[in-house]
Amino acid sequence: MLPSYAPKQRGSITYSNGSYPRSKETFSISPLRFQAKTSPRVLGRRKQLILRLALIIVVVSLFGLFLWPGGSIAPLFSLGLFSSSEAFELETVRYYDLSNVQGTSKGWEREERILLCAPLRDAESHLRMFFAHLHNFTYPHHLIDLAFLVSDSKDRTLPLLSELLEDLQADPDPRQPFGEISIIEKDFGQKVNQDVESRHGFAAQASRRKLMAQARNWLLSAALRPYHSWVYWRDVDVETAPFTILEDLMRHNKDVIVPNVWRPLPDWLGGEQPYDLNSWQESETALVLADTLDEDAVIVEGYAEYATWRPHLAYLRDPYGDPDMEMDIDGVGGVSILAKAKVFRSGVHFPAFSFEKHAETEGFGKMAKRMKFSVVGLPHYTIWHLYEPSVDDIRHMEEMENERKAREAEEKKKAERQKKTKDQFTDVGVQWQADKSEVAKAADKAAADEKVAEPALGVGEIKKTDTTPAEAGEAPPKPQEEVRGSLGRRY
Ligand SMILES: *[C@@H]1O[C@H](CO)[C@@H](O)[C@H](O)[C@H]1NC(C)=O
Repeated sequence: MLPSYAPKQRGSITYSNGSYPRSKETFSISPLRFQAKTSPRVLGRRKQLILRLALIIVVVSLFGLFLWPGGSIAPLFSLGLFSSSEAFELETVRYYDLSNVQGTSKGWEREERILLCAPLRDAESHLRMFFAHLHNFTYPHHLIDLAFLVSDSKDRTLPLLSELLEDLQADPDPRQPFGEISIIEKDFGQKVNQDVESRHGFAAQASRRKLMAQARNWLLSAALRPYHSWVYWRDVDVETAPFTILEDLMRHNKDVIVPNVWRPLPDWLGGEQPYDLNSWQESETALVLADTLDEDAVIVEGYAEYATWRPHLAYLRDPYGDPDMEMDIDGVGGVSILAKAKVFRSGVHFPAFSFEKHAETEGFGKMAKRMKFSVVGLPHYTIWHLYEPSVDDIRHMEEMENERKAREAEEKKKAERQKKTKDQFTDVGVQWQADKSEVAKAADKAAADEKVAEPALGVGEIKKTDTTPAEAGEAPPKPQEEVRGSLGRRY
């Protein structure tokens, strides 16, 4: 789908040709854009420049008069450019000194501006969490410009984003509102389903990564301004991260830096797990593998199909390790990248093609390295990605749920059976008692009778009186089974 260049109206936010909203009820526009013009340093330079220009004009005029005495130097003045000190005060001229936006370890003290880029695709369910993180950032909000790319979304990502931005920018706490906000809408024809399974399946990786790369490049090229010192890439599905993450990463003063990214898991899956396997150090095995692959092939990390034996940042985490410990890496993951803006200005980008057999953020890391920028990961500084159960996990959870239900049903049945047995046993006990007294009565009677006719019977022979006449021999004997059965029932 082609991007639409027509001005759009969405809620109370005015989009004018894709540029920043400017009307009064929209997001505040940073005054910094024009600050360069009035800074003392710039004024000094301007004065110098004007002096030099004047000198050049005088020299050229004299030289011209000397060469062509009849000629006129009036046309030079008619250009207007050299005519007065108004040169840089034209409304349409912006002056930027890019040596001021190199990025330093204490950007918040030097008022360095960060461009925060967040690619969004069907992100409605995560947006509120993302904005909660924005609220909690300790880096001065007015120094952070936000840029969102909304692409290939079928849910309410865009309307919800507008809503949340309006709330954020209207926050009564003066420390809350952010700087300039850009929303860029562009579809890339994402063919892969965005459900967890399709997204993480091996087959889909290369083309998915190339599309993601394009999205990042479109977003950055549209939103990066000459006054940005830093660019921070952040995924919306980060669940837990230190509020000070921008300062924490910046303090290292690296060109490109990433934290470790893990995710919490349900207890039955072990409690936690490395998440982002795209931050890694190059290995000999992977280089040899890369040589055997087709020119357009893209190696994606974390899949059994490519056994690269690279040291992954994620697996080197020690929960008690020094969070400031640095590790040189070659590929970087995209969940949370802080990079100096000069890296991008120098031409490093997210390759949407195979660059050294890698694409997107991994290719970005490799390209930055290739241009001699520092690329670093912090193995013991961890942020936590949201846990979204995979189809396998969901299946497993269903199985566990069914097992639990089956177990419960079984236990219920068992309890019922036990109760029944107990009741029966009580009946049996009563019956037995009754029988016993019957027997005893019978025995007494028999004994009384015997007393008259025969000598008394021994105790062992009481039972005999209990047997019916049939059992005593007049009828054919009952089969063994039945006897045993009756015994079984009784005891
Ligand atoms: C933001 O800070 C508040 C107050 O400390 C905390 O309750 C909340 O969980 C934080 N939100 C995120 C997303 O970290």
